[in-house]
This record gives sequence, C-alpha cells and structure tokens, in this order.
Amino acid sequence: MKFENKVAVITGAGSGIGKKTALLLAREGAKIILVGRTQSKLETAAKEINEVCDNNSAVTFATDITKEGEVKVLSDFLKSKYGSIDVLINNAGSSGSASILELDLEDWQAIQSVNVTGVFLVSKHLSKLMINAPEKTDRAIVNIASLSGHKAGAKIPHYSTAKAGVIHFTKALAAELASYGIRVNSVSPGFTETPLTEEGLRNDSFVKAIERHTALRRVGDPTEIANVIAFAASSEASYMTGTDLLVDGGWLIT
Ligand SMILES: NC(=O)c1ccc[n+]([C@@H]2O[C@H](COP(=O)([O-])OP(=O)(O)OC[C@H]3O[C@@H](n4cnc5c(N)ncnc54)[C@H](OP(=O)(O)O)[C@@H]3O)[C@@H](O)[C@H]2O)c1
Repeated sequence: MKFENKVAVITGAGSGIGKKTALLLAREGAKIILVGRTQSKLETAAKEINEVCDNNSAVTFATDITKEGEVKVLSDFLKSKYGSIDVLINNAGSSGSASILELDLEDWQAIQSVNVTGVFLVSKHLSKLMINAPEKTDRAIVNIASLSGHKAGAKIPHYSTAKAGVIHFTKALAAELASYGIRVNSVSPGFTETPLTEEGLRNDSFVKAIERHTALRRVGDPTEIANVIAFAASSEASYMTGTDLLVDGGWLIT
C-alpha cells in the first residue's frame, strides 16, 4: 500500500476534495487526521472512512487554520500522539463573489486569511514535525491552489490573488524544505463538483459556460482531483518538488 505506516494531516477534510483525498490515503494505509472547523462534518467523514478501512485510521481534530493559537494546539496534539507526520495536505479554502470596486477590505482579508495565510500557518508549524521525523523517509506537502491562481476569474479577484499566492508560496516552501528531503507541490483544480461550487452548479447557464470553456466539456469530480493529490503526496512523485499540477479538464487550452 502506498501510504502504509504514514501519518497524514488533511485540512478541510470534512467535505469535497479533502474528504475524497482522506478516503484515498486511508485506503492506501495512511493514518489520517481530519482537520476543519466543523466537528460534526469531520466526525461524519471519519466514520465513513473507518467503515471502509478496517484499521480505524481516521481521527478528527477541529481547528480554524486562520488562528495561529489553534494551529499550535493541533501541532502539540500531533506531536504527543504521533511524534511526527509524513504527509500534509493543505486543502482548506473558501471563496466569495465580488468585483474589486465593490469589495470590502474585511472580505478581501478573510479570503487571504483562509486561502493563503492559513496555508502558511499550518505549513510553518507542521513542517517542523516533518523535519524532526526520526526516520527520514519520503515526506510531502501538497497545497491545493486553483485554476484561478493561473487565470484571474471574473468576480473572484480576492480568491484568484490568494490562489496565485499559494502557487508561489509552494515554490518558496519547496526550496526551503528540500534540504530536509521534504517535497512540496501544489495541485490546481478546475471546476469541480463540491459544496464550494454547489450553488453555482445549480445554475444551468453557468454549467453550460463551464462545459463550453473546458476542453473535456464537463465539470470535474472530486475523486479526479484527489487522485492527483494522492500521487503528489506519494513516493511515486519522489523527484517532483516546487511544481504545480493543473487539473482543469483543459480549461487553459481552450
Ligand atoms: N471545487 C472547485 O471547483 C475548486 C476549484 C479550485 C480549487 N478548489 C480548492 O479546493 C479546496 C477544497 O475545496 P472544495 O471544493 O472541496 O470545497 P469544500 O467542500 O467547501 O471544502 C473546503 C473545506 O475547508 C474547510 N475550511 C474552510 N475554512 C476553514 C478554516 N478557516 N479552517 C479550517 N478549515 C476550513 C471547510 O470546512 P469548515 O467550514 O467546517 O471549516 C470545508 O470542509 C479549496 O482550497 C478550494 O479553494 C476547489
């Protein structure tokens, strides 16, 4: 199994892409720590994972990744329970909709806070646990960026900016952690069916516009993104660091 004896932390694991990634890694033998703000969502996800993976591998830890104090508590918990971690998936994120001329500073900052500052805080505190791992086996961080980090989308200037930041933060972190043998990459999903896009995808003309702009002519399934995240986190990607994997169904080539 690809993640046997590995300890993997996944933020935003209570729904969507994070939940699918948690399931995939658990199926491949990882012990999973599901992180997010809503304990009930995390518990439901853990129960679903533990039902299909008989090693009772999923545990939950409610944390708001924008609050450094809470991230430190998460880090202390991981250190006392597992000693070190092998895989970190920085997946938590959220979006909003506004034009620049109408965007409040508070909303701008909230989107930067969860999508990019949260990735910084979790990486800073949890990569120390990876550095101090007693066995220096392949360890990896995967940050979830977005197609919007490559191409600015209408009415999501705050989100596009934050996700472009995630792509560049990934490269900076990869350069810094390479000497410890820790790989860092990002995955940039295109339009994917999750709670984040649920409302928009109820609108037929929005779905048709996505289909028109996507070479593969359809919205993505979260498992199709999780597969690529799992690859980047696995030893199969052992010579890959500091890069971004675009999984957009061919949006940027149309
Ligand atoms: N779906 C797409 O089309 C798409 C496209 C490109 C990129 N992405 C990216 O993919 C990632 C996963 O999104 P998704 O589509 O799977 O949406 P999702 O189901 O809404 O997942 C996002 C998760 O992040 C958690 N979260 C939000 N704020 C948090 C915070 N401050 N602290 C901790 N956890 C927090 C949420 O749980 P709580 O609210 O309970 O905390 C939620 O479970 C995000 O980074 C998103 O930007 C998605």
